[in-house]
Amino acid sequence: MNQLFRRKRYSESEHPSGLLRVLGVWDIVFFGIAAIIGAGSFSSLGEAVFRGGPGVIVLYIICGFACGFTALCYAEFASRIPTAGSAYTYAYASFGELIAWVIGWALIMEYSFGNIYVAFSWSDYFTSFMERIGIHIPDYLTCSYTEAKKAFFGGSTNQELINAWKTAPLLGNLKVILDVPALVINGLITWLCYVGVRESKNFNNLFVLLKLFIILLVIVVGVAYVNTGNWFPVSTVTGEPSFMPNGFSGVMSAVSGVFFAYIGFDALSVLSEETKNPQKNLPRGMIISLVLCTVIYIMLTLVLTGLVDYRKFDGVGDPLAFIFEKSNTNIPWMEFVVSLGAIIAITTVLLVFQMGQPRIWYAMSRDGLMPKKFMEIHPKNNTPSFATIITGVVVGIPILFTDKSFILDFTSIGTIFAFVLVCGGVLMLPSKEKRKGRFHLPYINARYIFPLLFLGGVAFFYFWQPTFFHNLMDWNDATEGEFRISIFFFLLINLVLCGLAFAKKLSLIPLIGLSSCLYLLTGMSHNNWFWFALWFGIGLIIYFSYGYRHSQLNKRQHGDAE
Ligand code: ALA
Repeated sequence: MNQLFRRKRYSESEHPSGLLRVLGVWDIVFFGIAAIIGAGSFSSLGEAVFRGGPGVIVLYIICGFACGFTALCYAEFASRIPTAGSAYTYAYASFGELIAWVIGWALIMEYSFGNIYVAFSWSDYFTSFMERIGIHIPDYLTCSYTEAKKAFFGGSTNQELINAWKTAPLLGNLKVILDVPALVINGLITWLCYVGVRESKNFNNLFVLLKLFIILLVIVVGVAYVNTGNWFPVSTVTGEPSFMPNGFSGVMSAVSGVFFAYIGFDALSVLSEETKNPQKNLPRGMIISLVLCTVIYIMLTLVLTGLVDYRKFDGVGDPLAFIFEKSNTNIPWMEFVVSLGAIIAITTVLLVFQMGQPRIWYAMSRDGLMPKKFMEIHPKNNTPSFATIITGVVVGIPILFTDKSFILDFTSIGTIFAFVLVCGGVLMLPSKEKRKGRFHLPYINARYIFPLLFLGGVAFFYFWQPTFFHNLMDWNDATEGEFRISIFFFLLINLVLCGLAFAKKLSLIPLIGLSSCLYLLTGMSHNNWFWFALWFGIGLIIYFSYGYRHSQLNKRQHGDAE
């Protein structure tokens, strides 16, 4: 049993002491915006708005809050291990091999599957841009098979998807529907990563400014066209005008799309060795970038839902351009500028994710948990060539047979799960000696505060939504049943956490991070959990049949380390 939790020791010699401490708080904020704002704001916002209506802004606030606490836990993790790395590296040193594997496996999901979504949204903007300049790509070549099928049989109002299903040519009995632009861009990005592109700080900064410019333009131009009546559509639950037309469970069902927009901040923790006075600047930079992104998302949501009825966003992958289409506000130059800007901005997100993925495989392979082939470096290009190609395949194949919302759910559930492990993990870390120049998570005793916050929160919701609590055990309800089951387990786990906080005087910050991430998981449907469990099952099979035996730690213990 102990073997499963064998830990890797990182020696001080691996400490990247050559790194210069040059980054100030605003550099961190800039990096934060570069990592966070991408397909989430340009695309998944549409799906989120469709599910939750204007009230989805409440979820943006909840996610921003959960991510803020998790970011601090990441920073604590990063400051403990004397080597730069990801959550995988930290977990290997702190909790041992099995947990490290689980986190590594979740990170593969975050990067690879995240990039499938980003490729889909790149394609949506590309198609809308082409349309603007007068080149029509047939609808059946710009969306995925499952998406078109779902839209056609599910009574969607999205004409492009329905048209794709109706006009697709047949190959035998199969309709030929595939997202060609998404496949092509994945191929191109994989090739770029293979031949080796250097990340350039100057380019990076330029792209951040471009992203911000487009978003601000959408907000500034859009505000003039807002019809405030659109913010209170008729509720499908009560029949009255409501900010949350599909109820609070409708808002929570948008969690994947909303959470996806925040993914990326976890990368900031790796900057701790390069930050001036990280104790102050790192948490400040992280929190400022998360607050800025939250404000941006709230404004975008208000503009989108003020301009166009939320129901029209069903299946819309390019919402920022869509609101300026002829059938909506009809501002062609905005549609043109936004789609062109979005194509460039999203390409950089693709590149960063596609470059990050092989490096995780590389680290796992170096530790013996993945076959050696994954650490093969191209002799001329100096890139992890095999891992890069596999990344291209892992991203490319699902483009053929999955759809956007499935991928979004899958990425988000995996990433939130990794965050739960990170926050939970930080709670279990022993206290450390304080060293100057390192980040330390402030310890606030949760003994009384956490139970008070939790029980106070439950009491507040009880008085706000008494019927929800009265029906909490009614799990047969078709629309709300799944959400109630999840909330029931959430409440149960939190009661246990209250007991632990009291008995063990746990630290408040990771505890709130853990609890808020667990809350985000309540928005996941049973279907998501099923696919997630399958993915983890496959991961565990690979670990036990390969990684466990080939692990470098295992070899070292048996005296045959290479
Ligand atoms: N937050 C990143 C994006 O929106 C993943 O693209």
